[in-house]
Order: sequence, then structure tokens, then C-alpha cells
Amino acid sequence: MLKIKSIHAREILDSRGNPTVECDIITSDGCSTASVPSGASVGFNEAWENRDERNKRYHGKGVQTAVANINKIIARKIAGMDAANQQAVDSALLKLDPTAQKVKLGANALLAVSMACCRAASPHALYENVGKLFGTKKYILPVPAFNIINGGKHAGNTIDLQEYMILPVGAKSFSEALQIGAEVYQTLKTLLLGKFGKSAINVGDEGGFAPPMTCIEEPFDMILDAVNELGYLNKVKLGIDCAASTLYSNGHYKIEDKALAAHQLLDRYEELAASYPIISIEDPFAEEDFEHFSLLTKTAKKFQVVADDLTATNPERIKSAAAEKAANCLLLKMNQIGTVTEALEAGKIAKKAGWNIMVSHRSGETTDDFIADLAVGIACGQIKSGAPCRGERIAKYNRLLRIEETLGKKAHYTRRFL
Ligand code: PGA
Ligand code: ZN
Repeated sequence: MLKIKSIHAREILDSRGNPTVECDIITSDGCSTASVPSGASVGFNEAWENRDERNKRYHGKGVQTAVANINKIIARKIAGMDAANQQAVDSALLKLDPTAQKVKLGANALLAVSMACCRAASPHALYENVGKLFGTKKYILPVPAFNIINGGKHAGNTIDLQEYMILPVGAKSFSEALQIGAEVYQTLKTLLLGKFGKSAINVGDEGGFAPPMTCIEEPFDMILDAVNELGYLNKVKLGIDCAASTLYSNGHYKIEDKALAAHQLLDRYEELAASYPIISIEDPFAEEDFEHFSLLTKTAKKFQVVADDLTATNPERIKSAAAEKAANCLLLKMNQIGTVTEALEAGKIAKKAGWNIMVSHRSGETTDDFIADLAVGIACGQIKSGAPCRGERIAKYNRLLRIEETLGKKAHYTRRFL
């Protein structure tokens, strides 16, 4: 038994300069700390983030109530429990807040405790503890999906789609994939500078460039120019996160200043997939449009359809989406659901349905590298943590380098996609 001696939470800042929750758990082994991220394109079905909206501090974004919920309510319940029993700790958290969207204490309060507990119960490496909880037999180093051009809600530019990613599926190892990603990023920077001037190399929330492009194909063309210049065309594939809920209103999607109906948007995706080496399309339609998600998934031969806002890491929504064959890859974000146990449960359901899983950061991050261990621990083979730029993004990629080194010959890098 690894007895939890005490718990202490505090307010810190995330990568956008907004407050977030950090939590320490003290056991006889020492102090383990975890902090939670925060999204900008937040799905309607996500667990609730507790912010002090009525308080003027930090423009209503403070998290003092969530912190107090840990220090005053959760701490009393969890102290004395066995940190190594993740399920018991998470059940205790869910008893304190039994609401579906964690509207009593806040998912940011629950998750900080749940993650810190999982880390505390990892005597060797966090991924081993995650692997034990998930039932993993062989660890896998994930393919990184580097978001190198930012648009939508993550950047102050005119690009409609939120994320343009490169996935070095042809690399032989994670470290080679990281090298390829970083090289393409720097070459892209030079190309953007030459074409648009200095303002185009400013970066968005996830570290990708935010150039003044308008047509949705243009980022693909520039990225492929960079990939080609480096001779990596056979190693690199493309992915997008459309975050289509943010483009949707009154039955239409606003793309390139035109209002497209869902079936027109579907045609557009098929054209894109026919013209570019795209292997991953995330949130192609609005979060309740299971019908068009299913239509795209049915016709998708060369790419995976990733569900983010559609499923919100929620076991019930994943079951519905799987039954309707509305996607074939789950985007796994722990703060969409609120505890480590529920996030792992979401992953198990997706896996059972035969889906791929991509572990994901949020656009507002901290330097906590938990998701690197999560991706290796559940052996899902895919992670997105933004561009190979900005400390909070790099923290996860650097952690994966260290895990690769520790695993040595056992560090399998996956290239499996469809
Ligand atoms: P978010 O973006 O963290 O702002 O939600 C990430 C995503 O949509 O995948
Ligand atoms: Zn998304």
C-alpha cells in the first residue's frame, strides 16, 4: 500500500497565460505533481472546466474554486487512501462529483488529482503503471502528428481549418520521426518567410506557423514543398483537424467565405484525399453530425476519420459512434472526461471497436508530459502534441525520446494506420 499522506493544489498558468490547476500528492515515496491542460475549441459534450467566471481576476478565468475543491473537499476524502489503487481513488472522486459533466467540483479539479495519483503510483516509469492499468503487453512508441500550420481558433490568421499536421509514418524510430518533423518545420519556416515575409512565421497556440493563407489547399502545397525539398516524400503523410464545429452555424460550414452544406463539404474532403497524401482527418463535421461522419468513414479508404468533439473521450458517446461506424479513430484527451480511469475506459472501448487511438494534448498546455507516457502505456501508436516548437509541446516529444532510450531494443515504433 502506498498511502496518500496529503494533497495540495495550486493555481498556475498554462501556455496561453490562463490559470490552470496543479496538484501535489505526497506519499511515503515523495511528492508527485500533475497539472491539467485546457482547450480553445471545446466540444459541447466535454466535462466541465471549473473557472471563477464571476470573479474579475484573470478576466474570469481563475481556478481558485477548483483549487479549493481539491484542498478542502477532495483532500479530506483521498488522504489515507492507497495511491496505487487508481480505480479506488477515481471512484472516490466520482462519488464526490457524480454528475455526468463534473459540474459539481470541475473536471480540472478531479483530473489534476487523478493524474498526480497515477504518477505517484509509478515507482519506475509512468508508462509502466498506465500499461498495467490498460492491460498492455508490448509498449509502442507513437507516430507523432506535428501540427505545423495553425488556423481556426488557434491562430490570428485567415486559415479555416484548425490544424495541418505531418505524420512521419515512414520513419524507423520515434527519434527519426522527431528529427524529420523538426527539419520539415524549419524548412517550411524558410519557405513561408520567402513567400509571405516575416509576419507569416509567427506561431499559433500549438507552435505551428500562422501564415495569411485563405484557400484550404495552400497549406498542403507549402508543406509538401518543404517535405520534397528535404527528400522525405516517401516518409511523411499529412493529417488535418478541421474542428468543424467551430465552422458550423445554421446548417452550414463556413469555408473560404462560402457556406457549404455537409454533403458539399464531404465532396471537398474526398477531393482533398484524392489530391494529397492525407492519412488522417479529424472532426470533419460538427459534433452532432453522426450521419456525415459515417458517410465519410464508409468511403474513407486511405485515411482514418478521427473523432474528437464527436466523442469527447466519453465512453457512452464512443459506444454510440462505434455502433454507427461514425469514425475509426478516437482522439483521447483526458480532460474531456475528468479522470484517468474513465479516459482508459474510453480507450478500451475504442480498441474493442477496432478503432485506432491518437492521444492528444490541448491547445492550452503546461509542461506536464503525462500524455507521452499515456501514449506509450496504452500502446496506441499515435500522439499529437503540436509543432516541434514551444516548450509545452516539446516537453512531450522529449519525454518520448527518453522513453525510447529506456526501452532500448524494445522500443517499437509503429507505422500501422489503417
Ligand atoms: P483544443 O484543440 O485543445 O483547442 O480543443 C485541439 C483539438 O481540437 O484537437
Ligand atoms: Zn480536434
